Amino acid sequence: MTQLNDCFNCQDFARVARRRLPGSLYHYIEGAADDELTARANVQAFERYQLVPRQLRDIRAVDMRRRVFGCDLEWPVFMAPTGMSRLFHPDGEQAVAREAARMGAGYMLSTMATSSLEEVADGSVGPKIFQLYLLNDDGLNRAIIDRCKAAGYDAICLTVDCVVAGNRERDLRFGLTVPPQLNRRNILSFVQKPLWGMRYLAHGGITLPNVPTPNGSKSLGTLTSYFAQKMEQNITWARVEQLQQYWGKPFIIKGLQSVADARDAVVAGVSGIIVSNHGGRQLDGSPAVLDLIADIVDAVDDQLEVVLDGGIRRGNHVVKALALGARACLIGRPYLYALSAYGQPGVARMLELMRRETERTLALIGVPHIDDLDRSALTHLESRPVYLSASVPTGALRSGAYS
Ligand code: FNR
Ligand code: LAC
Repeated sequence: MTQLNDCFNCQDFARVARRRLPGSLYHYIEGAADDELTARANVQAFERYQLVPRQLRDIRAVDMRRRVFGCDLEWPVFMAPTGMSRLFHPDGEQAVAREAARMGAGYMLSTMATSSLEEVADGSVGPKIFQLYLLNDDGLNRAIIDRCKAAGYDAICLTVDCVVAGNRERDLRFGLTVPPQLNRRNILSFVQKPLWGMRYLAHGGITLPNVPTPNGSKSLGTLTSYFAQKMEQNITWARVEQLQQYWGKPFIIKGLQSVADARDAVVAGVSGIIVSNHGGRQLDGSPAVLDLIADIVDAVDDQLEVVLDGGIRRGNHVVKALALGARACLIGRPYLYALSAYGQPGVARMLELMRRETERTLALIGVPHIDDLDRSALTHLESRPVYLSASVPTGALRSGAYS
Protein backbone atom coordinates (compact mmCIF):
# COMPACT_ATOMS: atom_id res chain seq x y z
CA MET A 1 0.00 0.00 0.00
CA THR A 2 1.63 3.25 -1.12
CA GLN A 3 1.59 5.94 1.59
CA LEU A 4 1.27 9.64 0.79
CA ASN A 5 4.90 10.22 1.75
CA ASP A 6 5.99 7.54 -0.74
CA CYS A 7 4.72 9.69 -3.62
CA PHE A 8 7.51 11.86 -5.00
CA ASN A 9 6.15 12.88 -8.38
CA CYS A 10 3.11 13.08 -10.57
CA GLN A 11 3.45 9.51 -11.87
CA ASP A 12 3.44 8.14 -8.31
CA PHE A 13 0.14 9.92 -7.65
CA ALA A 14 -1.27 8.72 -10.99
CA ARG A 15 -0.50 5.09 -10.06
CA VAL A 16 -2.31 5.41 -6.73
CA ALA A 17 -5.24 7.19 -8.39
CA ARG A 18 -5.55 4.35 -10.88
CA ARG A 19 -5.74 1.82 -8.05
CA ARG A 20 -8.35 3.79 -6.10
CA LEU A 21 -10.75 5.08 -8.76
CA PRO A 22 -13.32 3.09 -10.72
CA GLY A 23 -11.99 2.62 -14.26
CA SER A 24 -14.44 4.99 -15.91
CA LEU A 25 -13.31 7.87 -13.66
CA TYR A 26 -9.58 7.22 -13.94
CA HIS A 27 -9.91 7.03 -17.71
CA TYR A 28 -12.00 10.21 -17.80
CA ILE A 29 -9.05 12.05 -16.20
CA GLU A 30 -6.28 10.30 -18.08
CA GLY A 31 -7.96 9.97 -21.46
CA ALA A 32 -7.99 12.26 -24.47
CA ALA A 33 -9.42 12.41 -27.97
CA ASP A 34 -9.05 9.88 -30.81
CA ASP A 35 -5.52 8.38 -30.76
CA GLU A 36 -4.43 10.66 -27.90
CA LEU A 37 -1.46 11.84 -29.98
CA THR A 38 -1.78 15.45 -28.90
CA ALA A 39 -2.10 14.55 -25.21
CA ARG A 40 1.14 12.56 -25.42
CA ALA A 41 2.86 15.24 -27.53
CA ASN A 42 2.10 17.86 -24.86
CA VAL A 43 4.10 15.91 -22.29
CA GLN A 44 6.86 14.64 -24.57
CA ALA A 45 7.65 18.11 -25.93
CA PHE A 46 9.24 19.02 -22.60
CA GLU A 47 11.95 16.41 -23.19
CA ARG A 48 13.03 18.12 -26.42
CA TYR A 49 13.78 21.43 -24.74
CA GLN A 50 16.79 21.26 -22.44
CA LEU A 51 18.01 23.62 -19.76
CA VAL A 52 21.51 25.07 -19.99
CA PRO A 53 22.65 26.20 -16.53
CA ARG A 54 24.72 29.28 -15.73
CA GLN A 55 26.95 28.95 -12.69
CA LEU A 56 28.59 31.36 -10.22
CA ARG A 57 25.40 33.32 -9.59
CA ASP A 58 23.96 34.39 -6.24
CA ILE A 59 20.96 32.10 -5.85
CA ARG A 60 20.34 32.53 -2.09
CA ALA A 61 16.90 34.01 -2.70
CA VAL A 62 14.77 32.64 -5.53
CA ASP A 63 11.91 35.00 -6.41
CA MET A 64 9.00 33.63 -8.45
CA ARG A 65 6.46 36.39 -7.76
CA ARG A 66 4.49 37.66 -10.70
CA ARG A 67 1.16 39.37 -11.37
CA VAL A 68 -0.75 37.49 -14.08
CA PHE A 69 -4.34 38.08 -15.26
CA GLY A 70 -4.75 40.56 -12.39
CA CYS A 71 -3.75 37.91 -9.80
CA ASP A 72 -0.72 38.22 -7.52
CA LEU A 73 1.03 34.86 -7.60
CA GLU A 74 4.01 33.68 -5.57
CA TRP A 75 4.45 30.77 -7.97
CA PRO A 76 3.34 31.49 -11.56
CA VAL A 77 0.98 28.54 -11.80
CA PHE A 78 -2.81 28.20 -11.96
CA MET A 79 -4.83 25.07 -11.32
CA ALA A 80 -6.50 24.40 -14.69
CA PRO A 81 -10.30 24.37 -14.63
CA THR A 82 -11.50 20.77 -14.47
CA GLY A 83 -15.03 19.48 -14.17
CA MET A 84 -16.39 17.01 -11.65
CA SER A 85 -13.67 17.09 -8.96
CA ARG A 86 -15.95 15.68 -6.24
CA LEU A 87 -16.45 12.56 -8.31
CA PHE A 88 -12.80 11.77 -7.71
CA HIS A 89 -12.74 12.67 -4.02
CA PRO A 90 -15.31 14.43 -1.79
CA ASP A 91 -12.70 17.05 -0.82
CA GLY A 92 -13.29 18.38 -4.34
CA GLU A 93 -12.75 21.85 -5.76
CA GLN A 94 -12.63 23.62 -2.41
CA ALA A 95 -9.66 21.57 -1.25
CA VAL A 96 -7.76 22.25 -4.47
CA ALA A 97 -8.49 25.99 -4.27
CA ARG A 98 -7.29 26.11 -0.64
CA GLU A 99 -4.05 24.26 -1.39
CA ALA A 100 -3.39 26.39 -4.47
CA ALA A 101 -3.73 29.50 -2.29
CA ARG A 102 -1.35 28.02 0.30
CA MET A 103 1.26 27.49 -2.42
CA GLY A 104 0.83 31.01 -3.82
CA ALA A 105 -0.78 29.69 -7.02
CA GLY A 106 -4.10 30.66 -8.61
CA TYR A 107 -7.24 28.55 -8.97
CA MET A 108 -9.55 28.36 -11.98
CA LEU A 109 -13.01 27.01 -11.23
CA SER A 110 -14.79 25.16 -14.04
CA THR A 111 -18.35 25.83 -15.13
CA MET A 112 -18.70 22.03 -14.79
CA ALA A 113 -17.52 22.04 -11.16
CA THR A 114 -19.22 20.01 -8.47
CA SER A 115 -19.02 22.93 -5.99
CA SER A 116 -20.81 26.21 -6.43
CA LEU A 117 -18.75 29.23 -7.41
CA GLU A 118 -19.89 30.93 -4.19
CA GLU A 119 -18.69 28.04 -1.96
CA VAL A 120 -15.27 28.11 -3.60
CA ALA A 121 -15.01 31.89 -3.31
CA ASP A 122 -15.95 31.74 0.39
CA GLY A 123 -13.57 28.90 1.17
CA SER A 124 -10.31 30.23 -0.27
CA VAL A 125 -8.38 33.44 0.16
CA GLY A 126 -6.22 33.01 -2.96
CA PRO A 127 -6.63 34.39 -6.49
CA LYS A 128 -9.64 32.89 -8.28
CA ILE A 129 -10.73 32.86 -11.89
CA PHE A 130 -14.03 31.50 -13.17
CA GLN A 131 -13.86 29.40 -16.35
CA LEU A 132 -16.92 30.04 -18.45
CA TYR A 133 -18.47 27.68 -20.96
CA LEU A 134 -20.82 29.75 -23.06
CA LEU A 135 -24.27 28.16 -23.03
CA ASN A 136 -26.82 28.63 -25.80
CA ASP A 137 -29.00 30.67 -23.43
CA ASP A 138 -27.88 34.24 -22.93
CA GLY A 139 -29.94 34.76 -19.81
CA LEU A 140 -28.05 31.90 -18.14
CA ASN A 141 -24.68 33.25 -19.32
CA ARG A 142 -25.44 36.65 -17.84
CA ALA A 143 -26.73 35.14 -14.63
CA ILE A 144 -23.51 33.22 -14.09
CA ILE A 145 -21.38 36.31 -14.80
CA ASP A 146 -23.50 38.25 -12.28
CA ARG A 147 -22.83 35.52 -9.71
CA CYS A 148 -19.07 35.80 -10.41
CA LYS A 149 -19.25 39.56 -9.87
CA ALA A 150 -21.08 39.13 -6.57
CA ALA A 151 -18.67 36.42 -5.39
CA GLY A 152 -15.59 38.56 -6.17
CA TYR A 153 -13.80 36.51 -8.85
CA ASP A 154 -10.62 38.18 -10.15
CA ALA A 155 -11.15 37.28 -13.79
CA ILE A 156 -13.25 35.26 -16.22
CA CYS A 157 -11.70 32.77 -18.59
CA LEU A 158 -13.79 31.75 -21.59
CA THR A 159 -12.96 28.30 -22.95
CA VAL A 160 -13.49 28.30 -26.72
CA ASP A 161 -12.25 24.87 -27.82
CA CYS A 162 -15.20 22.86 -26.56
CA VAL A 163 -18.06 23.91 -28.83
CA VAL A 164 -18.44 20.22 -29.67
CA ALA A 165 -17.20 17.42 -27.44
CA GLY A 166 -14.03 15.62 -28.51
CA ASN A 167 -14.14 11.92 -29.36
CA ARG A 168 -12.98 10.36 -26.09
CA GLU A 169 -13.11 6.65 -26.70
CA ARG A 170 -12.16 5.72 -23.14
CA ASP A 171 -15.36 7.42 -21.94
CA LEU A 172 -17.41 5.46 -24.47
CA ARG A 173 -15.69 2.18 -23.64
CA PHE A 174 -16.28 2.67 -19.90
CA GLY A 175 -19.81 4.04 -20.22
CA LEU A 176 -19.10 7.37 -18.49
CA THR A 177 -22.15 9.39 -17.50
CA VAL A 178 -22.48 12.36 -15.15
CA PRO A 179 -23.31 11.53 -12.40
CA PRO A 180 -22.13 7.92 -12.80
CA GLN A 181 -24.92 5.50 -13.56
CA LEU A 182 -24.31 1.80 -13.53
CA ASN A 183 -24.44 0.17 -16.95
CA ARG A 184 -23.04 -2.95 -18.55
CA ARG A 185 -19.85 -1.14 -19.56
CA ASN A 186 -18.89 0.12 -16.13
CA ILE A 187 -20.57 -2.04 -13.49
CA LEU A 188 -17.53 -4.24 -12.94
CA SER A 189 -15.24 -1.24 -12.50
CA PHE A 190 -17.51 0.17 -9.76
CA VAL A 191 -17.96 -3.20 -8.02
CA GLN A 192 -14.17 -3.54 -7.90
CA LYS A 193 -13.81 -0.24 -5.97
CA PRO A 194 -16.21 -0.54 -3.01
CA LEU A 195 -14.28 2.02 -0.92
CA TRP A 196 -14.76 4.68 -3.57
CA GLY A 197 -18.48 3.72 -3.77
CA MET A 198 -19.05 3.93 0.00
CA ARG A 199 -17.34 7.30 0.23
CA TYR A 200 -19.25 8.64 -2.78
CA LEU A 201 -22.62 7.56 -1.34
CA ALA A 202 -21.74 8.77 2.18
CA HIS A 203 -21.19 12.27 0.75
CA GLY A 204 -24.47 12.23 -1.12
CA GLY A 205 -23.12 11.93 -4.69
CA ILE A 206 -22.54 15.02 -6.81
CA THR A 207 -24.40 17.87 -8.43
CA LEU A 208 -23.21 20.55 -10.87
CA PRO A 209 -24.46 23.71 -9.17
CA ASN A 210 -23.16 26.14 -11.80
CA VAL A 211 -24.95 24.73 -14.83
CA PRO A 212 -28.52 23.83 -15.74
CA THR A 213 -29.30 20.14 -16.23
CA PRO A 214 -31.46 18.99 -19.16
CA ASN A 215 -35.19 19.24 -18.34
CA GLY A 216 -34.35 19.98 -14.72
CA SER A 217 -33.28 16.35 -14.11
CA LYS A 218 -30.28 15.59 -11.88
CA SER A 219 -28.38 13.90 -14.67
CA LEU A 220 -26.34 15.43 -17.50
CA GLY A 221 -26.20 12.11 -19.35
CA THR A 222 -23.02 11.77 -21.39
CA LEU A 223 -20.74 14.76 -21.87
CA THR A 224 -21.20 14.51 -25.62
CA SER A 225 -24.97 14.75 -25.43
CA TYR A 226 -24.78 17.54 -22.86
CA PHE A 227 -22.42 19.59 -25.01
CA ALA A 228 -24.61 19.05 -28.07
CA GLN A 229 -27.67 20.30 -26.19
CA LYS A 230 -26.33 23.17 -24.11
CA MET A 231 -23.14 24.65 -25.54
CA GLU A 232 -23.15 27.74 -27.74
CA GLN A 233 -21.67 26.73 -31.08
CA ASN A 234 -21.39 30.23 -32.46
CA ILE A 235 -18.83 32.05 -30.33
CA THR A 236 -17.50 35.00 -32.32
CA TRP A 237 -15.07 37.83 -31.51
CA ALA A 238 -18.02 40.23 -31.41
CA ARG A 239 -19.53 38.04 -28.69
CA VAL A 240 -16.23 38.06 -26.80
CA GLU A 241 -16.21 41.86 -26.84
CA GLN A 242 -19.78 41.99 -25.46
CA LEU A 243 -18.97 39.51 -22.70
CA GLN A 244 -15.85 41.44 -21.75
CA GLN A 245 -17.79 44.65 -21.47
CA TYR A 246 -20.47 43.01 -19.38
CA TRP A 247 -17.87 41.52 -17.04
CA GLY A 248 -15.66 44.63 -16.77
CA LYS A 249 -12.59 42.94 -15.21
CA PRO A 250 -9.72 40.87 -16.72
CA PHE A 251 -11.12 38.62 -19.45
CA ILE A 252 -9.13 35.68 -20.79
CA ILE A 253 -9.59 33.22 -23.66
CA LYS A 254 -8.56 29.58 -23.14
CA GLY A 255 -8.00 27.25 -26.04
CA LEU A 256 -6.19 29.21 -28.75
CA GLN A 257 -3.35 27.57 -30.67
CA SER A 258 -2.63 29.73 -33.72
CA VAL A 259 -0.71 32.96 -34.19
CA ALA A 260 -3.64 34.30 -36.24
CA ASP A 261 -6.12 33.76 -33.39
CA ALA A 262 -3.70 35.30 -30.91
CA ARG A 263 -3.50 38.42 -33.10
CA ASP A 264 -7.31 38.55 -33.24
CA ALA A 265 -7.35 38.34 -29.44
CA VAL A 266 -5.14 41.45 -29.31
CA VAL A 267 -7.60 43.29 -31.58
CA ALA A 268 -10.53 42.19 -29.38
CA GLY A 269 -8.71 43.71 -26.41
CA VAL A 270 -8.74 40.69 -24.10
CA SER A 271 -6.36 40.71 -21.14
CA GLY A 272 -4.79 37.39 -21.91
CA ILE A 273 -4.89 34.07 -23.69
CA ILE A 274 -4.20 30.53 -22.58
CA VAL A 275 -2.47 28.56 -25.31
CA SER A 276 -4.10 25.19 -24.91
CA ASN A 277 -5.42 22.12 -26.71
CA HIS A 278 -7.54 21.15 -23.68
CA GLY A 279 -4.97 18.55 -22.64
CA GLY A 280 -5.51 16.81 -26.00
CA ARG A 281 -9.13 16.06 -25.06
CA GLN A 282 -10.73 17.92 -27.98
CA LEU A 283 -8.97 18.02 -31.37
CA ASP A 284 -6.40 15.25 -31.74
CA GLY A 285 -3.49 15.79 -34.12
CA SER A 286 -2.65 19.37 -33.16
CA PRO A 287 0.86 20.29 -31.95
CA ALA A 288 2.22 20.19 -28.42
CA VAL A 289 1.49 23.55 -26.81
CA LEU A 290 5.15 24.00 -25.88
CA ASP A 291 6.03 24.07 -29.60
CA LEU A 292 3.52 26.88 -30.21
CA ILE A 293 4.22 29.21 -27.35
CA ALA A 294 7.32 31.10 -28.62
CA ASP A 295 5.75 32.15 -31.92
CA ILE A 296 2.57 33.31 -30.20
CA VAL A 297 4.47 35.25 -27.53
CA ASP A 298 6.48 37.00 -30.25
CA ALA A 299 3.39 37.77 -32.35
CA VAL A 300 1.43 39.46 -29.56
CA ASP A 301 4.45 41.48 -28.49
CA ASP A 302 3.42 42.20 -24.87
CA GLN A 303 -0.03 43.45 -25.89
CA LEU A 304 -1.65 40.69 -23.85
CA GLU A 305 -0.50 38.01 -21.43
CA VAL A 306 0.20 34.53 -22.79
CA VAL A 307 -0.07 31.51 -20.51
CA LEU A 308 0.73 27.86 -21.36
CA ASP A 309 -1.60 24.96 -20.57
CA GLY A 310 -0.87 21.28 -21.20
CA GLY A 311 1.72 18.65 -20.38
CA ILE A 312 3.28 20.17 -17.27
CA ARG A 313 4.31 17.30 -14.97
CA ARG A 314 7.37 18.75 -13.20
CA GLY A 315 8.65 22.01 -11.79
CA ASN A 316 11.34 22.07 -14.46
CA HIS A 317 8.58 22.06 -17.10
CA VAL A 318 7.24 25.29 -15.60
CA VAL A 319 10.72 26.81 -15.96
CA LYS A 320 10.99 25.71 -19.60
CA ALA A 321 7.60 27.24 -20.44
CA LEU A 322 8.47 30.52 -18.74
CA ALA A 323 11.85 30.62 -20.51
CA LEU A 324 10.02 30.42 -23.85
CA GLY A 325 7.97 33.45 -22.86
CA ALA A 326 4.85 32.15 -21.08
CA ARG A 327 3.82 34.43 -18.20
CA ALA A 328 2.54 31.44 -16.21
CA CYS A 329 1.40 27.81 -16.63
CA LEU A 330 -1.71 25.80 -15.91
CA ILE A 331 -1.62 22.30 -14.48
CA GLY A 332 -4.58 19.93 -14.81
CA ARG A 333 -4.12 16.19 -14.47
CA PRO A 334 -1.31 16.35 -11.85
CA TYR A 335 -3.55 17.81 -9.16
CA LEU A 336 -6.45 15.53 -10.16
CA TYR A 337 -4.27 12.43 -9.68
CA ALA A 338 -3.27 13.71 -6.25
CA LEU A 339 -6.85 14.57 -5.29
CA SER A 340 -8.11 11.16 -6.43
CA ALA A 341 -5.34 9.37 -4.56
CA TYR A 342 -5.39 11.14 -1.16
CA GLY A 343 -7.84 14.07 -1.18
CA GLN A 344 -6.64 17.45 0.11
CA PRO A 345 -3.37 16.17 1.71
CA GLY A 346 -2.47 14.63 -1.64
CA VAL A 347 -3.00 17.94 -3.46
CA ALA A 348 -0.94 19.70 -0.77
CA ARG A 349 1.99 17.34 -1.27
CA MET A 350 1.80 17.33 -5.09
CA LEU A 351 1.80 21.13 -5.27
CA GLU A 352 4.54 21.46 -2.68
CA LEU A 353 6.75 19.03 -4.62
CA MET A 354 6.17 20.91 -7.88
CA ARG A 355 6.72 24.32 -6.35
CA ARG A 356 9.97 23.19 -4.73
CA GLU A 357 11.07 21.68 -8.04
CA THR A 358 10.43 24.98 -9.79
CA GLU A 359 12.49 26.85 -7.19
CA ARG A 360 15.27 24.27 -7.22
CA THR A 361 15.45 24.32 -11.03
CA LEU A 362 15.77 28.11 -11.07
CA ALA A 363 18.59 27.87 -8.53
CA LEU A 364 20.32 25.12 -10.52
CA ILE A 365 20.26 27.15 -13.75
CA GLY A 366 21.48 30.26 -11.96
CA VAL A 367 18.38 32.41 -12.54
CA PRO A 368 17.13 33.54 -9.12
CA HIS A 369 14.42 35.84 -10.50
CA ILE A 370 11.86 34.60 -13.01
CA ASP A 371 11.84 37.95 -14.79
CA ASP A 372 15.45 37.23 -15.81
CA LEU A 373 14.50 33.93 -17.41
CA ASP A 374 14.69 33.96 -21.21
CA ARG A 375 15.37 31.67 -24.15
CA SER A 376 19.09 31.69 -23.51
CA ALA A 377 18.37 29.21 -20.70
CA LEU A 378 17.24 26.62 -23.26
CA THR A 379 18.53 24.55 -26.06
CA HIS A 380 16.46 22.37 -28.33
CA LEU A 381 17.30 18.86 -29.44
CA GLU A 382 16.54 19.62 -33.08
CA SER A 383 18.49 22.87 -33.19
CA ARG A 384 22.02 24.13 -32.77
CA PRO A 385 23.07 24.44 -29.10
CA VAL A 386 22.82 28.03 -27.91
CA TYR A 387 25.02 27.91 -24.79
CA LEU A 388 26.94 31.09 -25.49
CA SER A 389 24.34 33.52 -26.79
CA ALA A 390 22.79 35.99 -24.38
CA SER A 391 19.50 36.17 -26.21
CA VAL A 392 18.30 33.71 -28.77
CA PRO A 393 16.12 34.45 -31.78
CA THR A 394 12.90 32.43 -31.75
CA GLY A 395 13.83 30.65 -34.96
CA ALA A 396 16.67 28.80 -33.28
CA LEU A 397 14.25 27.23 -30.87
CA ARG A 398 11.45 26.26 -33.20
CA SER A 399 10.90 22.61 -33.87
CA GLY A 400 10.48 23.58 -37.50
CA ALA A 401 7.63 21.16 -37.97
CA TYR A 402 4.85 23.63 -37.33
CA SER A 403 6.36 27.01 -38.13
C1 FNR B 1 -10.33 19.27 -18.15
N1 FNR B 1 -10.19 20.50 -18.83
C2 FNR B 1 -11.20 21.44 -18.76
N2 FNR B 1 -11.02 22.67 -19.32
C3 FNR B 1 -11.97 23.62 -19.21
O1 FNR B 1 -11.77 24.72 -19.72
N3 FNR B 1 -13.13 23.34 -18.54
C4 FNR B 1 -13.39 22.14 -17.96
O2 FNR B 1 -14.43 21.93 -17.35
C5 FNR B 1 -12.39 21.14 -18.08
N4 FNR B 1 -12.59 19.90 -17.53
C6 FNR B 1 -11.56 18.98 -17.51
C7 FNR B 1 -11.72 17.79 -16.83
C8 FNR B 1 -10.64 16.91 -16.73
C9 FNR B 1 -10.82 15.62 -15.99
C10 FNR B 1 -9.40 17.21 -17.36
C11 FNR B 1 -8.22 16.28 -17.26
C12 FNR B 1 -9.26 18.38 -18.06
C13 FNR B 1 -8.92 20.84 -19.49
C14 FNR B 1 -7.94 21.47 -18.50
O3 FNR B 1 -8.38 22.74 -18.11
C15 FNR B 1 -6.55 21.64 -19.12
O4 FNR B 1 -6.68 22.31 -20.35
C16 FNR B 1 -5.80 20.33 -19.33
O5 FNR B 1 -6.02 19.43 -18.27
C17 FNR B 1 -4.32 20.66 -19.45
O6 FNR B 1 -3.55 19.56 -19.66
P1 FNR B 1 -2.77 18.76 -18.48
O7 FNR B 1 -2.20 19.77 -17.50
O8 FNR B 1 -3.81 17.88 -17.87
O9 FNR B 1 -1.74 18.03 -19.26
C1 LAC C 1 -13.59 17.96 -20.13
C2 LAC C 1 -14.67 19.01 -20.16
C3 LAC C 1 -15.54 19.03 -18.99
O1 LAC C 1 -12.50 18.21 -20.66
O2 LAC C 1 -14.13 20.25 -20.43
O3 LAC C 1 -13.86 16.85 -19.66
